[in-house]
Amino acid sequence: MTSSSLIGDSIPHESARLHVTGRARYLDDLELPATALHAALATSPVAHGRLRGVALDALRSAPGVVDVITAADLPGVNSCGPVLDDDPILAEGRVVYAGQPVAAVLATSHERARRAARLARFDIEVHPAVLDIRSALAQSSFVLPTQTLVRGEPDAALARSPLRRTGSVAIGGQDHFYLEGQIAIAIPQEDGSMLVHSSTQHPSEVQHLVAHALGRASHDVTVQCRRMGGGFGGKESQPALFACVAAILAARSGRPVKLRLDRDDDMLITGKRHDFIAEWEVGFEPDGRIRALKIMLASRCGHSADLSGPVNDRAICHVDNAYFLEHVEIVSHRCRTHTVSNTAFRGFGGPQGMMAIEAVIDDIARAIGRDPLDVRRLNFYGFGERHITPYLMEVEDNVLPLLADRLEASSDYRARREAIARFNAGSPVIRRGIAMTPVKFGISFNAQMFNQAGALVHVYTDGSVMLNHGGTEMGQGLHTKVMQVVANVFGLPLTAVRVSATDTSKVPNTSATAASSGSDLNGKAAEAAAITIRDRLVQFASERHQVPASAVRFTNGEVDLGDGRRLPFAQLVRAAYVARISLSSSGFYRTPKIHWNATKLTGRPFFYFAYGMAAAEVAVDTLTGETRVLRVDVLHDVGSSLNPAIDIGQIEGGLLQGIGWLTAEELWWNQAGELKTHAPSTYKIPSARDWPLDTRIRLLEGVPNREDTIHRSKAVGEPPLMLAIAVYQALRDAVASCGAPGNCPVLDAPATPEALLRAIAAAQQ
Ligand code: MTE
Ligand code: MOS
Repeated sequence: MTSSSLIGDSIPHESARLHVTGRARYLDDLELPATALHAALATSPVAHGRLRGVALDALRSAPGVVDVITAADLPGVNSCGPVLDDDPILAEGRVVYAGQPVAAVLATSHERARRAARLARFDIEVHPAVLDIRSALAQSSFVLPTQTLVRGEPDAALARSPLRRTGSVAIGGQDHFYLEGQIAIAIPQEDGSMLVHSSTQHPSEVQHLVAHALGRASHDVTVQCRRMGGGFGGKESQPALFACVAAILAARSGRPVKLRLDRDDDMLITGKRHDFIAEWEVGFEPDGRIRALKIMLASRCGHSADLSGPVNDRAICHVDNAYFLEHVEIVSHRCRTHTVSNTAFRGFGGPQGMMAIEAVIDDIARAIGRDPLDVRRLNFYGFGERHITPYLMEVEDNVLPLLADRLEASSDYRARREAIARFNAGSPVIRRGIAMTPVKFGISFNAQMFNQAGALVHVYTDGSVMLNHGGTEMGQGLHTKVMQVVANVFGLPLTAVRVSATDTSKVPNTSATAASSGSDLNGKAAEAAAITIRDRLVQFASERHQVPASAVRFTNGEVDLGDGRRLPFAQLVRAAYVARISLSSSGFYRTPKIHWNATKLTGRPFFYFAYGMAAAEVAVDTLTGETRVLRVDVLHDVGSSLNPAIDIGQIEGGLLQGIGWLTAEELWWNQAGELKTHAPSTYKIPSARDWPLDTRIRLLEGVPNREDTIHRSKAVGEPPLMLAIAVYQALRDAVASCGAPGNCPVLDAPATPEALLRAIAAAQQ
């Protein structure tokens, strides 16, 4: 194996064998010391009210109970919010959603802790609850002040537009449904310090919040995470509460404490994807070109801010998606409701922004009787004036026309559109639909400070390499990619590199593994660390063997001195050790070029864009509302792929998770604000049957990232989720075929059978 062959190779996930043989260790698999105890949470049955008292005697005397705490017992700050201090660990004075943790129980077993927790009785003076976006808007109930982005002259341009339309779409939320639920294990160490194992995308934040909750300094708390069984954004801010409770109980008892939620509690207690309402007025030319757009976005944030600020900013920054909007007004309401506080979820508001503009475009196309693909292409970002986003970033790397040309041809879009029209003409019950939609997704955290990363690389004297970096592994293959990068620097096979658990005592002050930027950031940081060590080894080899440094090469597990002599990597390393050369280094990276003015909503928030396009064909049974995804063609841009197998896996997973979001997964609260869909029995996640019958996924070849990213690759974690908008749009197309020409379907997401039947009935009127 040569060194360069590792980059761009389809190498299996570093834990693939462990995953499929059940030997990969998740937190629930860790052996606990015999003294370990188990925690459970007692939660509010009421959505909103004043907490007058808590009756805990029954809990205290329940079998196996060791300790019970409420907010009054917390040793430090009662806060686990990621941005603002508006997320209490345990409710204090009032409850703000049904499912909110009020008390924590510690017992000798998981089962006993859970049984005891159910005995809690709360004295709550029930207050009226604001439960949904419409009620919140009516009462001006917001977690953050409303934001408005205006570019050009939307009102004047709207007035001048030859054609105008208003429309709206409701976009549902989504539960993360990671296979491994929320879990934390806290193990007291000597002198008041604490080791916390947390299933978290953000070990540093858990560390800082646990330290605050304990009233200790950050250096007293170490957080580790080897892997998560899925995160999807649901473990960006959410794990902190559980880690804090476990650590507080561990500090009080002096014994290890494990807190693992069961699925129902997980779904009741933790935040989800924000549901949104979008309403617009659009002005356009007879050919479908958009002249002006005024759009209102409103999202259900739940009871606190959590990450709702940045989530809704990302929605604003993706309302344009692939399209040039010259005169635009975007109003963003961040609604406060007495429901669980919504949080990050793959795409982070971007998917909701894109859903809105794709519905706008579909409406325009139907109103003027053109193929929606033609209207999409007509509005694509172009050149000159037409490549500036509403937030004033230049789109410099636009590959959309290329993607559209290639996918239109390879998917046979035009011929199939005609075939579908013929099919529908002779098929009153089963209707087919087709759509082809683009994705343009900005890569980087909007908040500039998060775009930094650190890594730590050790070379041991036998030539083996230990890698640690600030990113976390949640199944997405980040560790595999970073191992490839480091092995490549040393010219070693992948087996020579081991990656250890993410650990706040090895790499400090890390960002969440989020915004799809894990490999961009940590790949570069780890590469820098490895290059530092390699440079020392090169220098040493050149002096020791009297060859020019520029001639020394590391390939195939060997050091090539450039004069015909080669020696094993391990031999050079051993000699360097004897000569007292440091074989360890940290590395650091910060993303260049980016800046963002959060007040004016302008700047270059993204280092670059990742692009993709999908063509989807569906069939709808107009009597039952049942659907089938017949075929999906994808052409996706990952720059120069670090690992095509992993990238295609991300595209497949993202696509299906998006299909679930837009067609099946429906969250439902009753009028008392209780979430009634809190288990797979009532919450329908996609299964094998929902995978398209015919799927053709390709990577865009031959177009490296024009920016200097790690080996010119592009981020891939989130963007493919939004390819599923093609499936939703294909369903709209099928619904439209049930009505007269020119009718614009009103189809809410998720497009469940019920939603489809409603939309079909409306179209047929
Ligand atoms: N893939 C798997 N298998 N599991 C996950 O939890 N999370 C997604 C995506 N792909 C996720 C996943 C989300 S929300 C993000 S932000 C990215 O992975 C994070 O990892 P990356 O930055 O390394 O791509
Ligand atoms: Mo992903 S939603 O940025 O964790």
